[in-house]
Amino acid sequence: PSLRLDALTIFPEYLDPLHVSLVGKARARGQLDVHVHDLRDWTYDRHNTVDDTPYGGGPGMVMKTEPWGDALDEVLADGYEAGAREPVLVVPTPSGRPFTQQLAVELSARPWLIFTPARYEGIDRRVMEEYATRLPVYEVSIGDYVLAGGEAAVLVITEAVARLLPGVLGNAESHRDDSFAPGAMADLLEGPVYTKPPSWRGRGIPDVLLSGHHGRIARWRRDEALARTVAHRPDLIARCDPAAFDKKDRET
Ligand code: ADE
Repeated sequence: PSLRLDALTIFPEYLDPLHVSLVGKARARGQLDVHVHDLRDWTYDRHNTVDDTPYGGGPGMVMKTEPWGDALDEVLADGYEAGAREPVLVVPTPSGRPFTQQLAVELSARPWLIFTPARYEGIDRRVMEEYATRLPVYEVSIGDYVLAGGEAAVLVITEAVARLLPGVLGNAESHRDDSFAPGAMADLLEGPVYTKPPSWRGRGIPDVLLSGHHGRIARWRRDEALARTVAHRPDLIARCDPAAFDKKDRET
């Protein structure tokens, strides 16, 4: 497979969607090798304790060092044993760096990703310090909101990464024009799309799309992308290289 994924969680069932749809098919085809582990398998007390109260006080609980350390050691050893190389630790956390398409591309080029989604107030800092001495650690946030745990972020990141793997989408062209894909429409959101029937509840298709005139269609798509980006993400326009705009863009 082109990518091995390990995930350590106290809710393995939360990652069941990795068996479904695009990611599930990529697994079935052998393009993706997914291993979900129950963190509690590395607890040795009667209550399978994974958390404790925070030093310094404050609300909530902190995930303990020992289960994470023992679990990561074993997962790393098993992966190496199976021939996996150059692991990267991906730690979902609202205090991480933003997950972007660029980071998805970067992760899709790696051979082995190990996810450590946490519940509660996060993981004792010493765990990431320890593993950062052995492998790259990417702390990643999927957006400016707080989830109850990192599992949903693992699903999001995995889906964004898996669809970039060679042969997974079927049609390599289908991510060429994605919003956020590099290229002529870089940094613009995708505009509207249409399919048959040509009339639905009295609503037609923009004439230009039926014109067969590729130049005009491309221009129209760019205008729509610009309008949509101005409306929903003015910050993306502000960030653009002015040289990326032509005279017609400025009229739009
Ligand atoms: N865990 C909790 N909130 C998160 C977020 N926004 N991104 C990644 N992991 C998280």
